[in-house]
Amino acid sequence: MSKPVAIVTRKWPKACEDRLKELFDVTLNETDTPFTSEELKNAFQNCDVLMPTVTDKINAEVLSVENRKANMIGNFGVGFNHIDIEKAKELGITVSNTPSVLTDCTADIAMSLILMVARRVGEGERELRADKWTGWRPTHLLGTKVTGKKLGIIGFGRIGQAVAKRAHHGFNMEILFWDPFDIPENVTKNLNAQKLSTIEDICRESDFVSVNCPATKETFHLMNEEKFNLMKSSAFIINTARGDIIDEKALVTALKTKEIAGAGLDVFETEPNLPSELKTLENVVSFPHLGSASTETRIAMGNTAIDNSLAFFANEELPNKVV
Ligand code: DGY
Repeated sequence: MSKPVAIVTRKWPKACEDRLKELFDVTLNETDTPFTSEELKNAFQNCDVLMPTVTDKINAEVLSVENRKANMIGNFGVGFNHIDIEKAKELGITVSNTPSVLTDCTADIAMSLILMVARRVGEGERELRADKWTGWRPTHLLGTKVTGKKLGIIGFGRIGQAVAKRAHHGFNMEILFWDPFDIPENVTKNLNAQKLSTIEDICRESDFVSVNCPATKETFHLMNEEKFNLMKSSAFIINTARGDIIDEKALVTALKTKEIAGAGLDVFETEPNLPSELKTLENVVSFPHLGSASTETRIAMGNTAIDNSLAFFANEELPNKVV
């Protein structure tokens, strides 16, 4: 039997590319150059499964390309806001994602941001690298203590809960959260986590606000001028979810006017471009979308995308079907 034809839009870890070569008639992206919209359309016309990532804008126009052959999108990533899911559903295209396998690493990066921004780690390292460190002194680079502070989590799904677990059990932080869904009592009990009724309450009460919800129409610019005004001037905003959940213009203003104390960001509205202030302000720590960037996790993500696609061609239930 002939193998399904697969097109992979970015370079994947070698172990996954080797597995792809075994199981599919696959075209890999050796140069790792992101696909243009025309290249994406062309790919849809020439494969059975497209394996894209967050850098591919798979909008209605791309999905509606004439003579489309692919009926399966095996996304490499948990977030799928770069794919027009409604259109895919309407056209009968199956979409899968890679949840669970990146939960721990993304939560680790959220904790890194919390610690780095509160304890001024980036500033300290920059000082040292610039050979400007003059030695220990009682008032040098004083930051904010993390242990025991209140962490407000917006979006208490897998990743939000994993952040809470680290923060509560590791740093004795008090966990507040907001989520539109009911969270099982055993989960909240174990984390001693308290659900607040509004996001505004989270902003008012927290020392750290961590964004862990998906990017949807409803969460677009959820953190805006009004919410930053509600936050304490000593509080920090952390984002490891998606950039457009935060209104970056309003964030830059809040940071410059010291409406809030700082920001730890792993994601941005129009990656890889970000406002220059988010690269230069001392009270900001910015990472280049590193949430899932460990070898173990990226291999697990590739294997999950492969497993979902194999299930599709075997007419089996997909482990991680989005639509
Ligand atoms: C994810 O899996 O959603 C990561 O942010 C990369 O897309």
